[in-house]
Amino acid sequence: MPDFSVSSDTSAFEVAAVLDPQGRLTGECERAALEMMDTFGLVVLTGLLSDAEADFGLGLIRQTIDDPARAHSTFASETDNSYKRRDFCSLPATREVNGFAALLAQRLEGVYREFCGLSRPLIEVATFTSYLGSSHQYIHRDPAGVISLFAALEDVSPEQGGTVFVPGTHLYGGVENTHAGHARALMELFRTRCNARIFVHNLRKLLAMRSSSAAPLAPGELRDRVFSMKWDQHQPNLLRFLTGKNVQFSLRNLSPSTLWQLRRRRAELDRLFRPVQAAPRKGSVILYRSDLLHAGPDNRSPTPRRFFGMSIARDMIERKYWHDGYSPHPTLQAQPLTLGDLLDWPTAPAKAPEREAALAD
Ligand SMILES: [Fe+2]
Repeated sequence: MPDFSVSSDTSAFEVAAVLDPQGRLTGECERAALEMMDTFGLVVLTGLLSDAEADFGLGLIRQTIDDPARAHSTFASETDNSYKRRDFCSLPATREVNGFAALLAQRLEGVYREFCGLSRPLIEVATFTSYLGSSHQYIHRDPAGVISLFAALEDVSPEQGGTVFVPGTHLYGGVENTHAGHARALMELFRTRCNARIFVHNLRKLLAMRSSSAAPLAPGELRDRVFSMKWDQHQPNLLRFLTGKNVQFSLRNLSPSTLWQLRRRRAELDRLFRPVQAAPRKGSVILYRSDLLHAGPDNRSPTPRRFFGMSIARDMIERKYWHDGYSPHPTLQAQPLTLGDLLDWPTAPAKAPEREAALAD
């Protein structure tokens, strides 16, 4: 765990999901979820999926993880992917996968409609697994203009590395005027402080792994994660750090004036920004604005951590820019889907009335 305090108590950001007879969030739940998304940039909807639905989704992501020809994500933690510390890969746009995405979109229809027009594209459906020995991602923002979703299809413990969020750091019109007009500068200072600690944490961890029997380093792994110039925004590679090549965190972020501000504003940063780490129970779903500060931590347990994820655009986004944060599966690129398509798509598993109708046929 990096040397900064992260609470595992997400109760202030949770809404217990209650569904109407059509299987959608009730109006009251929708309003509560939207208020949290506006105030904090995220909401944790507990109990949104039944155990059977979560098991169905877990089966889908297992099929992909077990497929040697799966499509790996290209935007983050590539080195962790190559050394099997992480397995971030997109799901193919099969009838079942699209049906599971449709189930989530339809259940959350009121929330999605508030943010995304019907013609906005489904950017990515993916699964994010991390294993013992992975690096802690730097605190970052994903490309703006997207609503992202993580679904816990099995219980996730804090040691397994549920996502860290910094509530209230999302961007919106007029955010610059908050915190006495210093919001942007203070958020960047806070990010720099966290990332300096994550840098040290990742370096220490890799050095300790040299003599670890639980997560021994693979041949070439220390070189690729610490001493290479390989493009990867979430490794502590020293040359990329020293030469300022890592846009997430490098020596460029540690100018004398920044160091002075970090010292002077230490108490203010502690008061304003309180990171939380999600440890969602099976069936919980996290929705967040993509420009909220967040990071995927390292898995500190021997049990793999898996999430299902999907992202829907809120606005027009340059397609090339998608790949800075998202990896749509080639089959989804070939046959794109919009939010409107998902709201009309047959869900998987089928909703109760659809199941009954299918049985009667
Ligand atoms: Fe991210």
